Parts: sequence; C-alpha cells; structure tokens
Amino acid sequence: MKILTNKRIILGVCGSIAAYKAPDIVRRLQDLGAEVRVILTQSGAQFITELSLQVTSKNKVHHNLWDKEAELSMGHIEMGKWADAILIAPASANTIANVAEGRACDLLNSVILASDCPLIIAPAMNQQMYSAAAVQGNLTTLTLRNIHIIKPEIGVQACGDIGEGRLAESKEIAEQVGRLFQNTELSGKKVLITLGATIEAIDPVRYLSNHSSGKMGSALADACIEAGAQVTLVVGNIGIDLNQKARKISTVSAQEMHQKVMENIADQDIFIACAAVSDYSIKNPEKNKIKKSGKNLTLTLLPTKDILKDVCALSTKPICIGFAAETQNLTENAINKMKYKGCDAIIMNDVSRDDLGFKSDENEVIFFTKNFQLKMIKNSKQKLGRKIIKLVVEKFI
Ligand code: PMT
Repeated sequence: MKILTNKRIILGVCGSIAAYKAPDIVRRLQDLGAEVRVILTQSGAQFITELSLQVTSKNKVHHNLWDKEAELSMGHIEMGKWADAILIAPASANTIANVAEGRACDLLNSVILASDCPLIIAPAMNQQMYSAAAVQGNLTTLTLRNIHIIKPEIGVQACGDIGEGRLAESKEIAEQVGRLFQNTELSGKKVLITLGATIEAIDPVRYLSNHSSGKMGSALADACIEAGAQVTLVVGNIGIDLNQKARKISTVSAQEMHQKVMENIADQDIFIACAAVSDYSIKNPEKNKIKKSGKNLTLTLLPTKDILKDVCALSTKPICIGFAAETQNLTENAINKMKYKGCDAIIMNDVSRDDLGFKSDENEVIFFTKNFQLKMIKNSKQKLGRKIIKLVVEKFI
C-alpha cells in the first residue's frame, strides 16, 4: 500500500510562473496513491489551463466560489469535508496573505476555512518578494498555526534573479505531503481489530450473515498502521483488500472469530471490535442441502459467545473499543452496550441509514466513553478512522 493510498488531496494552484509544474505535482501525488482535486485560482489560470489540470487529475477543476452548478455537485463545504489534506503549490504571496488573515475571498480560501484537515503550503515567487518582511511574517503566522510550509529552493528564477523562491521539486512536495500522514503516536503498540461479517451455516449452501463489508475496520487498521502500530486483523467475510502491513487471520463463524481473538489477545495493547458478529448461530447445521418440502421450516438459533465482553473480562485486558450498530434509541442503546460489555469506549453508528454504516464508504459516529462523548459528522470512513484513532490515543494512551 502506497503512502497516499486512500488519501484525498486538494491541490490549490495560484498565480505564479511555477503553476506550469502543477500537472506534475498532480501526477506525483497520484503515483503515491492519492486522489487529487484541483482548485485553480483566477491568477493561477493566467499561467496554466484548466484542461491540463482536468486531464491529469481526472477530475473537474474547481475555480469559482459562486458557480451554482458546482455548489450543487460539490460545494466548498463538501470539498472541505472531502479532503484529507489541502496542498497549495505554487502558493503566491497573495494567497499566503489571505490564508494568514483567514479570508474567504475565493473558493480556495473558503475551502481552507471549511476544512479541519492539514494544510501544506509550497510558496513560489520572486526572491525579493519571498524575502519581504510581510511575506515572511505571514509564513511565521502560518507556521505557528501548525501549517506545514515546504520551503522554496534557491536558484535562477524565471525573471532572471538568483535567490530563494523557486518552487520545491514536485517529487519532494508529494513526499512531504505523504510524510504528514505518518506519525508515531502508536509506535511500539499492538492493536487487534475484528472486522467484516461472520457467517453461520444453515446447511452447506445457505447461511446467516449481515451487510458488513469490512471498510470501517480496514480504515481503522490503516490509521493504526500510519500511527506506527503493529496491527493484527481477525477478519470475517469482507469484500475489500486490506493493508498489506497488517497480519491477517481469516475466520468464518462467530465461534471461530472468538477463538482466534482469544488466541491472539494476550500481548495486545488495544482491541477494537468492529466486526459485525452474529449474536446467534444455527443449532446443528445440516450436513446436506435442506430439500424444499413446501412446509414451514424451523431453525433453532443458539446465542454465540460475546467476543468483546470476553476480552473486557480478561484479568489483564487491553484498551477495549467496541462498536454499536444501532437502528433506534441510538445513544441509550450504545451507552447500555458499553456498560454491559465493560469496554472503555463505544463507537455508535446508525445502521438504519442507506448513506452510511454498512457497506458505504462513509460513516457518521458518536464516540462514547464513561464521561465523554463526541459526534463525528458524516465523512469518509478513512478520515473518521484517523479521527477515531487520534481520539483513542488522546484518551487512553
Ligand atoms: O464493515 P462496514 O460495511 O464498513 O460497516 C461497518 C459496521 C457498521 C459493521 C461497523 O461500523 C459496526 O458498527 N460494527 C459493529 C457491528 C455489531 O455487531 O454491532 P453490535 O451492536 O451488534 O455489537 C456491539 C459490539 O459487540 C461490537 O463491537 C461487536 O463487534 C461486538 N460483538 C457482538 C457480538 C458478539 N458475539 N461478539 C462481539 O464481539
């Protein structure tokens, strides 16, 4: 898995001669696995065509804050939520000043204000402009706000001047964006995550299961790996590829998933139960296919062992994070579940909705501990995965 796989990057292209390098930056980001959307400022459009950026990014280029059609399909608020990071390259003195002052003067600046994702700025301008006290002052302001600045290079400039102000190399810019997603918050920690759907056989042909795709658990695994953890995945039925850096243990039934979790839990620091585990299995599944008889058929269901509850009951237990898949009395049911199972936190999602929860690429959750709750509004499971892991680190590590 590449360093920017599953990452959505907005590239802001501003008025600078270096804008001609923007398609190469798009390519370099894509080479590292990113999906890229470009916002081209009015000044940027003086130096590079929308078409070049559309062709390389394979996405419509965004440029106008007041475009009614664009606002309908993906408005500035949606773009802000969509992005995992915003990169401005090349960043002009004007855009740097606008960002420093928090202006919502155009689409790029509005999206920046509407987003909580990391912002990376790669300035490019004439050396005299770059060294101007106002520009340097603005860059200091941005650095103090934890905005990542990719310093320009020193060399011969388009205007003939020699000095600091040339846009950094595209490859270096893309790699610095990639490195922003790597952290060491879980370095040295072991995390075991269950994910996917269990399958309970009725006969060799039919089974009892649910709609879990494994996407939420996979996003959590990616986030843990980015944070430096050693990740073990106990996997039920899924329809997706998993991070190759994780150790995978395949299971089918709830009983098998229970057994594999218990065999592997001893040295884990964190346990995240994201799998949709069947609460019941079939008593005595048939060895041969059940024949159609035209009569009613009664199946006896037996309760399965509760994996999360059993891990929480261990004498030396890891930090235990459960999920609650609810369709009604959401908060009440989730809090009761957290108490009943004895976990340190529970993450509630409303699985009655078609646009999130099971199978969808997006989710919306409320994170509960005994004395804290935080709603994480609808966003990609990848982005939520990172937010959840950040919160787990904040609360428990
Ligand atoms: O996989 P996706 O398509 O991305 O969908 C994600 C998801 C909706 C499956 C996920 O976000 C989610 O909610 N997972 C938990 C599903 C579930 O079984 O919820 P529950 O409320 O029935 O169970 C509560 C908790 O107990 C869960 O952490 C579950 O893993 C655990 N459990 C349940 C039964 C059991 N026998 N053993 C368990 O460990």
